[in-house]
Amino acid sequence: MYSPTTTRFTAALPAGRPALFLAPMREVTDLPFWRVLHRYGGPDVWFTEYFRAHATARLDRDLLHAIRHPPGGRPVIAQIIGRDIPALLRAAEALQRENLLALDFNVGCPAPVVCRKHAGAGLLRRPAELAAILAALRRHVSIPLTVKTRVGFTDSGGFDDLLNIYAAAGLDALTVHGRTASEMYRGATHYDLIARAARTLPCPVIANGNIISAGIAARVAKETGAAGLMLGRGCIRNPWIFTQIRELFADGHLRTRPTLRDLREYIGVLWHETKPAGFTEKLQVARMKKHLNFIAQKIDADDEFPRQIRRADSELDFFQICDKFLDRDAPFDSETPEQHLTNPGNPRVDCY
Ligand SMILES: Cc1cc2nc3c(=O)[nH]c(=O)nc-3n(C[C@H](O)[C@H](O)[C@H](O)COP(=O)(O)O)c2cc1C
Repeated sequence: MYSPTTTRFTAALPAGRPALFLAPMREVTDLPFWRVLHRYGGPDVWFTEYFRAHATARLDRDLLHAIRHPPGGRPVIAQIIGRDIPALLRAAEALQRENLLALDFNVGCPAPVVCRKHAGAGLLRRPAELAAILAALRRHVSIPLTVKTRVGFTDSGGFDDLLNIYAAAGLDALTVHGRTASEMYRGATHYDLIARAARTLPCPVIANGNIISAGIAARVAKETGAAGLMLGRGCIRNPWIFTQIRELFADGHLRTRPTLRDLREYIGVLWHETKPAGFTEKLQVARMKKHLNFIAQKIDADDEFPRQIRRADSELDFFQICDKFLDRDAPFDSETPEQHLTNPGNPRVDCY
């Protein structure tokens, strides 16, 4: 029997298959990006980038705007990060007045600048403090409360103790990114640990990490027994992925099979939909190059496409390169080897 808040959380999710969550990704998953994903099917639940909660922080206005205008009217989870209990409670208090499916607390951010202040994944090294924060949030938050965690800081030896903390906190769901903070975004995801969380916790568990195709989604759902799947970098590369997962779970058949030309069209949509007002062409080229870090790899055998994109310095140049590699009807294979999703050359990804 779930608690009333957990029942409220699960009632908003689809029945008969794992619920699909967008992973929060700072400087990527803003409202314009949500709108792009929505054109291609989109997740069941939107997730905001994190709201900072510290003594002098104010709630980010763009994030608040996103919460109030979710594409398709689909439910939204807002994430907060911090460790100062009064500041967290203030942010939580304001956010729970919005129309949210849940409030999520970030225990996963591995950025050194965050962890040094003992926030994000830094809290994994301070279990007593983590427990105290969760207890305070649980007392004050009347809407569903969730956590997004990693499996440990440098190793997963304390994962069972961590699960005990989450079990005692009365969470309404736990997302597990199946890596330690030290593993950042590289290497295999520890799906066995996600499975352990799903078996042990009294609330739904959401599996996260390297779900980059419908086939992998089905495998992860089976292997972990998770109630939900969360997708990040995979949906930047392949916005059709949510539709493809739904198809696979509906009747085992994948009908949506985009071509490279479809991918080229998507890149055009991304450019136009995500360009902030007043952004110069140069700034938008730089921003698109970050997206292309995830999209352009393993399209041609020699990885000439990402190399050329890195040298593009105008809109014309950028799209001429896209046309050169993508203006054909060949099938687009989204399932690159997982290591290609982690781009060591992209500091924003590695420092998150
Ligand atoms: C650019 C970028 C920004 C991210 N920002 C956040 C964030 O704000 N909050 C968070 O909990 N996780 C954040 N993450 C982690 C993702 O939510 C997710 O856990 C991780 O990318 C693994 O999932 P994936 O393999 O599907 O990408 C970020 C990841 C990336 C690549």
